[in-house]
Amino acid sequence: MKKQKSFVYRCSSCGHEEPKWLGRCPDCGEWNTLIETAVSSVRSRHTSTEKNIPQSLPLSAIDPQEGSRIKSGISELDRVLGGGIMRRSAVLVGGEPGIGKSTLLLQAASLAETKGRIVYISGEESAGQVKMRANRLGISGERIEMICSGKLDDILPILDAVKPIIIMVDSIQTLYTTEAGLVPGTVNQMKFCSFELITWAKEHDAALFLAAHVTKDGIIAGPKTLEHMVDTVLYFEQNDGDCRFLRAAKNRFGSVDEIGLFMMGEKGLQMVEDPSMLFLVNREGTLPPGVATAAVLEGSRTLLVEIQALVVPAKGSISRVFSDKIDSARVSRVAATLEKHINLRLSDHDVYVNVAGGIRISEVGVELALAGALYSAKTGLPLPGKTAIAGELSLAGEVRPVRRSLGRIKTAKNLGFERFLGPMPDAVEKEDNPKDSSVHTVSDIKSAIKVLFS
Ligand code: TYD
Ligand code: MG
Repeated sequence: MKKQKSFVYRCSSCGHEEPKWLGRCPDCGEWNTLIETAVSSVRSRHTSTEKNIPQSLPLSAIDPQEGSRIKSGISELDRVLGGGIMRRSAVLVGGEPGIGKSTLLLQAASLAETKGRIVYISGEESAGQVKMRANRLGISGERIEMICSGKLDDILPILDAVKPIIIMVDSIQTLYTTEAGLVPGTVNQMKFCSFELITWAKEHDAALFLAAHVTKDGIIAGPKTLEHMVDTVLYFEQNDGDCRFLRAAKNRFGSVDEIGLFMMGEKGLQMVEDPSMLFLVNREGTLPPGVATAAVLEGSRTLLVEIQALVVPAKGSISRVFSDKIDSARVSRVAATLEKHINLRLSDHDVYVNVAGGIRISEVGVELALAGALYSAKTGLPLPGKTAIAGELSLAGEVRPVRRSLGRIKTAKNLGFERFLGPMPDAVEKEDNPKDSSVHTVSDIKSAIKVLFS
């Protein structure tokens, strides 16, 4: 086989490249400007495509490429991606070490519904280690082709030869190329190597997954800088138990509301398709004070979650809010609304808020239940049992309508809740909502507290 030349003659005037020396540049016509220049495999790849003269296209003639999604075989992953793996896309999968990124990528590689070839690039673990994990997961792996290297200059020629349809990179921090300095893991290396791989994937109609380590205290300077380069950013989060949440922080091909739910078990990540009971605590009899159940939306699903509040006299001269599952600014706002509109003094108390099951709730419909939990915690009066609550609270003390109230009521009923407290339904939903005695609608926080505690 002919050895590939590692240098070209580049015109110092116009940048034109020739495989052999010429006295005059054929492009710009300057004399004696061709200079011998070393090229890497990476750069020579680009120049070959530069031969295709760029063109504009009428928007109407462009194929939207819908339908070119590949099912990953993991429905929770497909849900977060917006319906499957989009070809010609790059997905960043971030999370703390040990959360399950490698496991997810390996499982998706083995289950993806495609006849194309799948390449798994592991710069972190040896082939033997990946094989051991595959054995544990019951993956035979006939269709997964391994590259155990982080060296981009070795990886690209293999991709050119194999032409995979899905590429898994584990992890982006282990990739390096001599062109971006020698130390792997620097921001420069990550950006350079990601850019090369993303370009390769887009040019070859492939989908690219990049695993990225993100450390606990949020030092995400590295992977964060890649967010604008990729189409989709997924973050893996964990609660105190085995539950794992996969959330989209950015998605060019779908919504960012959806979450994927997994449990890490003996056989890797198991999907949780019906999570409705996961965030409830099984309780009989009277509820303890400070506990309320909210019906919240997470993407297309309704979840019933138990909100727990604890209120104690402030230890310092200023009161503080401790809440990491519900934004503490939201907790402070709801507490202030209670103080102003129903005279519930919380400003000299420390407030602790938690969500059962450790799920982070960002939906606004949680506010009324949160208000109920805070009121109950401060007064010591328990909320009525089997009651689900949804509603947004305005600073003026009004209970504002929330999206899809009927869906919330239905899910709550299916799970055995006997009463539902929520805002007045909006006009559209009202029409097909027959009078239901178990549904209590309120328009302000005063009447909500009255319904709950009298
Ligand atoms: P891993 O995918 O290696 O995490 P990451 O790539 O994000 O660092 O996942 C690792 C954790 O999951 C590890 O602590 C072992 C555990 N695990 C299981 O509990 N069951 C399994 O079947 C597998 C493969 C891993
Ligand atoms: Mg890993």
